[in-house]
Amino acid sequence: MPSLFDPLTLRGVTARNRIWTSPMCMYSVIDESGVPQTWQLVHLGALASGGSGIVFTEATAVSPEGRISPRDTGIWTDEQRDAWRPIADFIASQGAVPAIQLAHAGRKASTWPAWGFEDRSGTVPESEGGWRPVAPSAVAFEGYAVPDELDAAGIDKVVDDFRAATVRSVDAGFRVLEIHAAHGYLLHQFLSPLANHRTDEYGGSLENRARLLLRVVAAVREAAGGDVPLFVRFSGSDWAEGGWDEQQTATVAAWAQEAGADFFDISSGGIQAGIRIPVGPGYQVPFAHHVRSSAEVDVSAVGLITTPRQAAEIVESGQADAVMLARELLRDPHFPLRAAHELGVQLDYWPPQYLRARWRD
Ligand SMILES: Cc1cc2nc3c(=O)[nH]c(=O)nc-3n(C[C@H](O)[C@H](O)[C@H](O)COP(=O)(O)O)c2cc1C
Repeated sequence: MPSLFDPLTLRGVTARNRIWTSPMCMYSVIDESGVPQTWQLVHLGALASGGSGIVFTEATAVSPEGRISPRDTGIWTDEQRDAWRPIADFIASQGAVPAIQLAHAGRKASTWPAWGFEDRSGTVPESEGGWRPVAPSAVAFEGYAVPDELDAAGIDKVVDDFRAATVRSVDAGFRVLEIHAAHGYLLHQFLSPLANHRTDEYGGSLENRARLLLRVVAAVREAAGGDVPLFVRFSGSDWAEGGWDEQQTATVAAWAQEAGADFFDISSGGIQAGIRIPVGPGYQVPFAHHVRSSAEVDVSAVGLITTPRQAAEIVESGQADAVMLARELLRDPHFPLRAAHELGVQLDYWPPQYLRARWRD
């Protein structure tokens, strides 16, 4: 088994280690333009200099209506692409792989940002800068507006938007792409019977519910070219009776691999409000392990992975090929450098500006 600090190569890209920055929304585009700000440069730049092997952007919308909130970043215009370019370049200059999570929020779009609007909840009304969300079915997420059901042309537009976002992402310098099909957002809404009540070729059977995701994977793969690794983030379970589960995830991951995906980032939850999830250290790792062994695909695990030893054990025991961290990296963007020290691994990618702080010298 590889160890946490072994490199991992996918297509034409090598990550220097297997500790990766998980996508995290920042809600920091104050002017609602979708253009990334200095905040994204500083935040993602610190994570890159902190030693992460791959640094993912936040969920970045492929269309204005695909934003979770009016303050999300996007990649549907050339102006957004041009603003991402120096950020991707800086991440790469630090030896990390710049990666973008491409997203469409579906029925969970047009919601109030997670900070700055503490007295508001649910859907932002159109009169206050919101928009009408779209979804597989006209079924609301609890507390949110009822979305418009996508028709055939609307579904084709989603595929086209992911394709155009891919071209701009590669142009901006991103070397890994991830399709967000988790956490109850649009592609997960199609996958899960709890949100998809369609009776056409996009609803009902597993093949039908997976059809849009597989179309998006094929379109992104074609637009990205052969060198760019393509990840899909799945929720490994809805944690609800009659919902999406780890075996459906494994089956669809294998189909997605045939359609051009390379790697599967396994999270969970998000399709319904009010579900009790038994949260604890590494609680989603069994889903990643199941997908890895059942579908024989490469996976990462995420969720309450907070210590170097825990991260190393997940990789070294073969439960996952890599780990993604979110909140621990907010507490300490240099976690990978610290983890190497704690595990007795010598790294040659300390930022030279910081060498005087390297413990073992
Ligand atoms: C501030 C914040 C923003 C997040 N935004 C996203 C996102 O944009 N896309 C996504 O797939 N997950 C998002 N997540 C979920 C994380 O990527 C991760 O899966 C989750 O926090 C569990 O990992 P952790 O226990 O290491 O924090 C976010 C989490 C946090 C804390």
